[in-house]
Amino acid sequence: MPDEYYASSPVLEAFIAHVLDVVGATPSPPRRVERMRPAFGELLSASNWLPDEFTCANPNSTMGGGIASYLIYRRADRSLTLHALIVPVGAQTPIHDHLAWGLVGLYRGEQDEEVFRRHDRGEISGKASLSLVERRALKPGDFYTLLPPEGDIHRVRTTSSVPSISIHLLGSDLGCVLRHAYDLPHGMVHDFRSGYANVECENS
Ligand SMILES: [Fe+2]
Repeated sequence: MPDEYYASSPVLEAFIAHVLDVVGATPSPPRRVERMRPAFGELLSASNWLPDEFTCANPNSTMGGGIASYLIYRRADRSLTLHALIVPVGAQTPIHDHLAWGLVGLYRGEQDEEVFRRHDRGEISGKASLSLVERRALKPGDFYTLLPPEGDIHRVRTTSSVPSISIHLLGSDLGCVLRHAYDLPHGMVHDFRSGYANVECENS
């Protein structure tokens, strides 16, 4: 099976080519994301590469609030994806983890991000103890790295008067893998598959 592109643009194709070069030459995830930072920043500041149809809310969202995740690129072996997350005005994601290295940055709009730390080790099935460790305000061009387990649990909320669009480069097929969502008031964790608004997961 070949690599999958769901958008076409020289900017996008040059970015992915660079990322694949770095992945091939850099086994360590921390070094990998460090080397990708300049190109990722340039992708966030470039215009006209994200199709308009990938900026719309999804009324059938698995995350609620019309939140939509659009797959833009997926490597054939599912070890790398690029996707866009659309969070409508005032909507927020569930608290969730990612379980893979990545780079996440804001392309349009503004977000408030809350980062959590888990204190238990999953000793009791379905129970999870979390505390808020950081809150960040994100503007277009701001981005952060994901290097689990530290800093891997968060939620984001759109604070701007327009939907926020964030770009996610992940070392997994993020929308189709099972990961976790957390219910903070009840101290619960459950399996979570976010899916993509434009592509079905084979295992869903
Ligand atoms: Fe996330």
